[in-house]
Amino acid sequence: MIRPATPADVDAILEFWVAAAEGTDRRDDPAKVHALIERDPEALLVYELDGAVVGTVIAGWDGWRAHLYRLAVAPQARRRGLARQLIAAAEERFKALGAFRVDAMVLHDNTDAHPAWAATGYVMQEQWGRWVRHF
Ligand SMILES: CC(C)(COP(=O)(O)OP(=O)(O)OC[C@H]1O[C@@H](n2cnc3c(N)ncnc32)[C@H](O)[C@@H]1OP(=O)(O)O)[C@@H](O)C(=O)NCCC(=O)NCCS
Repeated sequence: MIRPATPADVDAILEFWVAAAEGTDRRDDPAKVHALIERDPEALLVYELDGAVVGTVIAGWDGWRAHLYRLAVAPQARRRGLARQLIAAAEERFKALGAFRVDAMVLHDNTDAHPAWAATGYVMQEQWGRWVRHF
């Protein structure tokens, strides 16, 4: 079952990300995830199986653009279509909000993930880069 995360899921999600996510920001803490859920209760989607979190995606919508982050599936549940379903659920949310395009943050080095994005219709754009400033 795919559903929006609730505050009660936060600790399990953080544990799940340590085990399953790639490139996890080590500054993740419960307060950040609670703030996300409070600001946009539909953004953080979890895949729940037998009462456990086995997948996540953040479907971020800022009113202008649609972005995907934190796609992750538990190692023991991979290659069973869970990521496909999570991406589809996020895309449904975006379409309902009026988005016509979605992008995903994907590390160039994370070549294990590239086939999943390609299989779900995503194409890397060579002409864009990520410019970042930390504060
Ligand atoms: C990437 C990830 C989310 C894919 O999750 P998944 O549930 O296994 O993906 P799916 O089963 O939905 O796969 C969908 C399609 O993607 C492709 N695919 C997925 N994983 C693949 C792999 N390891 N090798 C080759 N193709 C793969 C296949 O075409 C697959 O369809 P198929 O199984 O019918 O052939 C998962 O491997 C993961 O959590 N990796 C670590 C975290 C990560 O890197 N997240 C992405 C951050 S950008």
